[in-house]
Amino acid sequence: MTEDLINKKDIYFPSYLGTNENLITLLNRATRTLCNWFSKAEKYGPLPFDENFKCIMPEENGNSADDLFFDIESLLNNSYNPVHPGSLAHLDPPPLIFSILGDLIAAGLNNNLLAYDLSPSVTLLEESLCKWFAEKIGFNDSSGGIAASGGTLSNLNALITARYNAGLGSDPNSVLLISEDAHSSFIKCIRIMGLNESNLVRIKTDNKGCMDIQNLRKTLDKCSIENKKIFAIVATLGTTIRGAIDPINDISEICKERNIWLHIDGSIGGIFALTSIPIDGINNVNKANSITINPQKIIGITKTSSLLLVSNMSTLENTFSTGLPYISSKNKIINRGELGVQGSRPAEVIKLWLGLRYLGLKGIEDILKSSINRKDFFIKNISKDKYEIYSGPLHIVSFLPKGLPKKDTDFWTQTKVNELMKNNFMLSRPKFKGKYYLRVVMGNYNTNESHIEELLKSLDVY
Ligand SMILES: Cc1ncc(COP(=O)(O)O)c(C=O)c1O
Repeated sequence: MTEDLINKKDIYFPSYLGTNENLITLLNRATRTLCNWFSKAEKYGPLPFDENFKCIMPEENGNSADDLFFDIESLLNNSYNPVHPGSLAHLDPPPLIFSILGDLIAAGLNNNLLAYDLSPSVTLLEESLCKWFAEKIGFNDSSGGIAASGGTLSNLNALITARYNAGLGSDPNSVLLISEDAHSSFIKCIRIMGLNESNLVRIKTDNKGCMDIQNLRKTLDKCSIENKKIFAIVATLGTTIRGAIDPINDISEICKERNIWLHIDGSIGGIFALTSIPIDGINNVNKANSITINPQKIIGITKTSSLLLVSNMSTLENTFSTGLPYISSKNKIINRGELGVQGSRPAEVIKLWLGLRYLGLKGIEDILKSSINRKDFFIKNISKDKYEIYSGPLHIVSFLPKGLPKKDTDFWTQTKVNELMKNNFMLSRPKFKGKYYLRVVMGNYNTNESHIEELLKSLDVY
């Protein structure tokens, strides 16, 4: 069917009659456009190559399919392309094929995880998948979880739950303990919770970027003298700058001794709990009250995809249930809008479910192992005479030339990022404790050893 046969009126919505040929034509065209764009990375690299994209706003009359496809192409051409092997800047890997399909199905389904009536199969799917994850990480029968649109929201769900269940839901003197290397989203969480940065107590890290247990103990004693009420301690399983892992076992013992909620921010490393890859602390994650797992960050589940798993589902219910007066409820089935801060929510669980099932546990392990292997290869071969390396057990490496004064790190990293970009390598330059670093995130399955050798060659000269 040619494009001009597509009658706009017929394609406002899918039809419940016939075979939706018009829609199929459009979807085919969209698929082709997307796949063409993926392969343009070979020629153009990871960065946008067409700066002519115009943000045209809706006009009086609707646009034609041709107009829109022209603009879609322009939008794609002016986008970051994560499938290129030089895309190594952030925790944004190439999209998993079955997750792309899952997003399409979820969009067409347009069900709403607010309530069972609006999403019967996906409500059950999300509940079951969270339960499966919870059991895989060693939680017991009362465990479960809730999906959210990103790691920040999963962390927020956890902290609100911890505070509420500690009876400190409206106490302005309640504090949260995190390491000084924890993610910046905790600052947002604290603000959203009506607190401020004085309620966020930072624990020092050691020279590997892990929470210092002596400092944690000292801080706890200080908090108690100052009558600060701790509603949670966060252990990070994979820090953003160097992939460090806090000593989860020691922290969990302290939390148990003092009856404090332990939340693990496993946005980066939590997914390793599905595998047998030996990662520090991974066997102890079941000692936490809650853990964030954010499969969008390494294995390529398309954004956004994040889970909060809790050891006891009733803590989520206690915290978020309002009775949802305009929605009916089914016996024993909890409306999922009653288990977290989000109300209406798309069926993001579909792309997670399809992605994981397509990979299987072996495929998940393969992707994660390959990211560690790439990191190991990079570290093994980078010049240790030239560079100071900051890394941990996961797939993230930050580095700087040895002896580079703090004041020069801004200029050096900016110059280097620009230079590497000319060779189609996209690295990031996070600022941490007043200093800029060059950072490579080895989560791109399309990157092989010869690409890394090429990157190392470009780093050899500085
Ligand atoms: C350790 C850690 N926690 C939380 C987050 C926030 O995740 P999101 O961007 O999905 O909200 C990030 C983001 O990179 C992170 O690295």
